[in-house]
Amino acid sequence: MSQLASFVVVANRLPVDRVVTPDGGVDWRTSPGGLVTALEPVMRRHGGAWVGWHGAPDETVEPFDHDGYSVVPVPLTTLEHNEYYEGFSNATLWPLYHDTVAFPEFHREWWDAYVTVNRRFAEAAAEVAAEGATVWVQDYQLQLVPRMLRELRPDLKIGFFLHIPWPPIEIFRQLPWRDEILEGLLGADLVGFQEPGGSSNFLRLVRRRTGLKVERDRVYVTDTHTSIARAYPISIDTQGFAELARSPEVIAESEQLLEELGHPKVVFLGVDRLDYTKGLRQRIRAMGELFAEGKLDPSEAVFLQIATPSRERVDEYKKLRDDIDLLVGRINSEVGGIGRSAIVYRHTHYPRATMAALYRIADVMVVTPLRDGMNLVAKEYIACHPGGAGALVLSEFAGAALELKQAYHVNPYDLNGLKSTLMRAATDPVKDRQRRMRALRKQVQTHTIDRWANGFLGDLENLS
Ligand code: ADP
Ligand code: F6P
Repeated sequence: MSQLASFVVVANRLPVDRVVTPDGGVDWRTSPGGLVTALEPVMRRHGGAWVGWHGAPDETVEPFDHDGYSVVPVPLTTLEHNEYYEGFSNATLWPLYHDTVAFPEFHREWWDAYVTVNRRFAEAAAEVAAEGATVWVQDYQLQLVPRMLRELRPDLKIGFFLHIPWPPIEIFRQLPWRDEILEGLLGADLVGFQEPGGSSNFLRLVRRRTGLKVERDRVYVTDTHTSIARAYPISIDTQGFAELARSPEVIAESEQLLEELGHPKVVFLGVDRLDYTKGLRQRIRAMGELFAEGKLDPSEAVFLQIATPSRERVDEYKKLRDDIDLLVGRINSEVGGIGRSAIVYRHTHYPRATMAALYRIADVMVVTPLRDGMNLVAKEYIACHPGGAGALVLSEFAGAALELKQAYHVNPYDLNGLKSTLMRAATDPVKDRQRRMRALRKQVQTHTIDRWANGFLGDLENLS
């Protein structure tokens, strides 16, 4: 790359993944997950460089331009992919930071790979950043990068944002490399969290474990460097989603979808990466029981569950996929008529226009993670669903619940509570549902991705 960038995003993922097509060709596809959905519009507006992995192990790809910014691919070997990405990132940190809803594994060789790969990302960022540039490091895969980068380039302004929950102190303490992670993050000038509880837990841990002076949200790391921790709840490009959902193509696609489903009276919809944190087992059981008990009639109602393939070689994810296949198959074999399934389940990735069409037709959007940093699907639904009586059922353990107060909140572990809330969301008077949706819409219209990015970057710029 010849030109240096004054704004650099560093994330494990690039906005696009390099995939090999069935005929042996090469294609680029939108990467999965909320981080890319959120940051893509930010990069389109800011320009600069996005440093990240291109999704294909053992391949080196040259930097290229994409949507008005530079994409700088960082290579990973197959072994690093196993140990840094699938291992330490997604079988150690991911379950640990999500309240240990699955058991985190601790392996020293995975940690070593995490250090090696974090150093490679730090070096790549140091290489593309102009003098005095702002570098914004993203998420749990790269928590060591802020400090490594500061050592390489003390002239930079360094921000870090954690897209997933910061765990309670008692859980974080299990991590054998807890102090190294804290030191890594404290290399940033500003560390952002999804929830105020995350930033206060982080500061409490820093106070207890490092002995550094902490005053309010500021940590005095060295004589010349302080680090601030604050909450910045992330959001979406609300207007972009709303415009897409109003487009004639999406309206036509939503009509087509309803036709295919046989024009049910009530559509319940779930949309998630196939991840054990998303509460799919509990959700599908609850929906299955509602059909089996006759509270929902499969000739009138359908539960549509879309799950994007995710981290498919990690054991917990393989097991989840099998469990969901079995559960859906069993329920559909017991309820519903021939040619009319109670649950329609698709394990695939759809274009954004199809997602918008799905949100349009959903009478009840079911977002019930066991734990989630934010959950952008909830916000996308609100942005895309047209006027009228939609309803959002939302787990109280999603970061989004703090902002989306007029959703139907549920504890996803409480199956009876979940069932009764699903029924309320489907049957409450239209006026009540409209009132809730109006308030939710106002929230996502005013708390957009631009507000999030400007809030974080403005604070980073103005720190003294
Ligand atoms: P996470 O970051 O944990 O995956 P979020 O809810 O914050 O969870 O973000 C998920 C993102 O992935 C959303 O932008 C959503 O639209 C997108 N997504 C989820 N499922 C699919 C799918 N089947 N096809 C295409 N995009 C999907
Ligand atoms: O938002 C959480 C997140 O884990 C991102 O960091 C990640 O890019 C995305 O979800 C999808 O996961 P993965 O990159 O492992 O496919």
